[in-house]
Amino acid sequence: MFIDKLSISNFRNIKNASLQFDKGINIIYGENAQGKTNLLEIFYVFSHGKGFRSRTDKELLNFEEDNFDIDMSFFKNHKEENLRICFSEEKKKEIFFNYSKVSKLSEFLGEFKCVLFTPEDLNLVKEGPSEKRRFLDSALCQQSVKYFSYLINYNKILKQKNALLKDFENSENNLLLLDTYNGYLSKYGSFIAKCRFDFINDIKKNAINFYREISSEKENLTMKYLSFIEISENSSEKELFEKYYEILKKSIGADIEKGTSTFGIHKDDIKFFIDKKEVKSFASQGQQRSVVLSLKLAECENIKERFDEYPVLLLDDIMSELDIKRQDFIINNIKNKQVIITVCDYERYKNLENSALYNVSGGVIRKVR
Ligand SMILES: Nc1ncnc2c1ncn2[C@@H]1O[C@H](COP(=O)(O)OP(=O)(O)OP(=O)(O)O)[C@@H](O)[C@H]1O
Ligand SMILES: [Mg+2]
Repeated sequence: MFIDKLSISNFRNIKNASLQFDKGINIIYGENAQGKTNLLEIFYVFSHGKGFRSRTDKELLNFEEDNFDIDMSFFKNHKEENLRICFSEEKKKEIFFNYSKVSKLSEFLGEFKCVLFTPEDLNLVKEGPSEKRRFLDSALCQQSVKYFSYLINYNKILKQKNALLKDFENSENNLLLLDTYNGYLSKYGSFIAKCRFDFINDIKKNAINFYREISSEKENLTMKYLSFIEISENSSEKELFEKYYEILKKSIGADIEKGTSTFGIHKDDIKFFIDKKEVKSFASQGQQRSVVLSLKLAECENIKERFDEYPVLLLDDIMSELDIKRQDFIINNIKNKQVIITVCDYERYKNLENSALYNVSGGVIRKVR
């Protein structure tokens, strides 16, 4: 999969741009606060339907303008496709896939796939379980429309269940309602848990290999997906649903007492270990970076295995945080896919073969080579 052309109007500080990208490595350089990350965010919007630093669509709109319009053509399995997203306060967000308007996010999610690595992704190993679920959800939503819709449904029902549990009035009707919510949560939750389990299982092997390569075969990475229900590779949907529902049923008393949902996939976690020591508490910054790097590259491999095509890899300003050995490792492992890299200092990449170079200054993007 690769991006061919992109035109931008009024997206964050980029007022106007019309660009063509190289199939291989594209280096975007410029000083701080010029618009490099803003450009990468556009690609993320095309894959996830929202920005990775924004809470609302309006934040993506240039402060001085009243509408943005981004239009991208890309090649997927050798076929040219087009995505266009417009936003204005009156019309809100409008999405067009191959020039037809789509009415729901789920109609275009996953058409364009990218894997993003930003310095904030280090939180994936440093912070708590919610960052880990964010990684899983972000990866899986672009791989499966069903996962995306089930996650939305799950969160909606969970909110309703929690609202009911807060100041719970013990009546037959309310207990019945609680049971109905538990049924839905078990249906959506067990599916999500299995997808997450399979995903971690699938990326594990590659992530471990990447990590061994980065650490020159000295260290072993392991990881484990932790859910409150026991899952195995062969667990069936029905079996997981039943286990899930059983636990929710048993925890009704605790839920009512605490006034919130005690168990569920909203509490899931992933634990990472290097040579049996937990990464979060024991790993050095360099080791933590290598773990995230291995995970992101493994996610790319996973997409290639599942969809027969690499996603576009977006690397936001991560090179400066890595030592030369790791930078070389990245360069050697990205040659087989399209990569868009932002850097402040491009000296090191100036002579990189088969790469295109763009300068960003004050929101103006210029192709240099
Ligand atoms: N909605 C918006 N309208 C106009 N400008 C915006 C908007 N959102 C962000 N900006 C501005 O865009 C500028 C560039 O931001 P960006 O994060 O892309 O910089 P960068 O080139 O990645 O810098 P760094 O190297 O520091 O990461 C910032 O100064 C920011 O204030
Ligand atoms: Mg930036």
